[in-house]
Amino acid sequence: MNTRLANLRWKRIIAAGAGVAVLLAALVVAAGAWFYSQARQSNVGDLDFANELAIPPLAEPAIEADGTRVFDLRFTAGQSHLVEDGPSDTWGLNGTYLGPTVRAERGDTVRMDVTNGVDETTTLHWHGMHLPARMDGGPHQMVAPGDTWSPTWTVDQPAATLWYHPHLDGETAEHVYRGAAGMFLIDDPDEAPDLPDTYGLDDIPLIIQDKSFDGDGDLSMRSPLGSGVGFLGDTIVVNGTTNPHLPVTTELVRLRVLNASNARIYNLGFPDGRSFWQVGSDAGLLERPHETDRVQVSPGERAEIVVALAPGDETVLRSFPPDLGTSFFGERFDGGDDSFDIVQLRAAAELAPSPGLADELATVDAPDPDEAVTTREFTLSGSRINGEKMDMARVDEVVTVDTTEIWEVTNRGDQPHSFHPHLVHFRVLDIDGEAPPPPLAGWKDTVYVPPGTTIRIVARFDDHADPTAPYMFHCHVLRHEDRGMMGQFVVVERGDEADLAAMPGHDH
Ligand code: C2O
Ligand code: CU
Ligand code: CU
Repeated sequence: MNTRLANLRWKRIIAAGAGVAVLLAALVVAAGAWFYSQARQSNVGDLDFANELAIPPLAEPAIEADGTRVFDLRFTAGQSHLVEDGPSDTWGLNGTYLGPTVRAERGDTVRMDVTNGVDETTTLHWHGMHLPARMDGGPHQMVAPGDTWSPTWTVDQPAATLWYHPHLDGETAEHVYRGAAGMFLIDDPDEAPDLPDTYGLDDIPLIIQDKSFDGDGDLSMRSPLGSGVGFLGDTIVVNGTTNPHLPVTTELVRLRVLNASNARIYNLGFPDGRSFWQVGSDAGLLERPHETDRVQVSPGERAEIVVALAPGDETVLRSFPPDLGTSFFGERFDGGDDSFDIVQLRAAAELAPSPGLADELATVDAPDPDEAVTTREFTLSGSRINGEKMDMARVDEVVTVDTTEIWEVTNRGDQPHSFHPHLVHFRVLDIDGEAPPPPLAGWKDTVYVPPGTTIRIVARFDDHADPTAPYMFHCHVLRHEDRGMMGQFVVVERGDEADLAAMPGHDH
């Protein structure tokens, strides 16, 4: 073969190779584009809001001779009719989906008789509650099938919208997803500003969850391809109702929004552009109403809002694409481009007058950062905190009782994280050095930490020292938590050390 011929052959091979490469690249781009475009989810325009929103019943406590208010909560498995395609296998408390709303006043002593009526070991945690670690319902307080666990404590914290949900090491996502969750409202008789407050009438719980169903109504927890946060559903369920509307009969309605979803972040507002007032955040009322047209809640967070309606008004509470602060692809695959209608508000032709909204809602006596005895750093990255994966036998932080601390939380990864320490409510000191905006300036127990961001929070650790029982701190994106993005702290008397082995009934 002469060299010209060989050259020609090589040219042909190269040309063919380049052709194949271009074709492959085009295929990859096309697949990527398809993949990218199908990752956006929305139900806007698909709903007719035919179903009246369910309101979880208020739990009726039994009152003992010493005044203790005893609530019975029984884990129950069964079937729920969430969608028209057919029944779903679900869990609830005292019912087959979600649980009753527990309500208590500051100063009340409560006992929760939690019975496990399902066939898996689980737990029930009181999210946002200030209480002894043994009563907290975290991964160390497992309740076996058939057993009853009876934590008791005295409620001592500001009026707030808290909630309860299972909290196992590694299986929280699955147990919460099945529907075991509910609200826990705290009232403070000494701090009761004018706000709509008749439960179920003008004071409405909104437990927002996203679900996916297969064709027969079965719940599916498959994560969409490309999602770093795990499960993101295509169907919104509010208080167990899909396609819901809320009949409104008063001029003002207060919505207690709880993001009880596994990973989805909601950015709530109204398509007609109306503004509303945010009056509360996770762990208490704001100092004053904050007028706004959006409120964003990440998993675990709550927001209380008050909306004004005119007679005959129909409007929709919608989740607009949230601001995740992640990359271009992160936004798309972690739900940042998604939009969902949540619930339609239907005002009656005549509305009962509401009290005017108070100017001052609460005094938030922030812990003084100058009194902080230490600043602890928490680096969130991958599914780790400070490079560690959750270990039930390891205590990560030891806090001395009766001190103030600053916790500096940095998201060094590219994923959305929602940071939640147990026991304390905190104030956000700053976000990348800037003072927090009004919605983040009240009492919080969970805070969204966007990628690349450092948030400093300040909290007081006033009481409940117990070297044998740890509290959790973790990411509330449940897949992250289950993968080990959680750690443990104990509160001890000055000079004491953690001693988990001494925990009564310790079996780890
Ligand atoms: Cu909502 Cu550690 O929990
Ligand atoms: Cu919690
Ligand atoms: Cu996370």
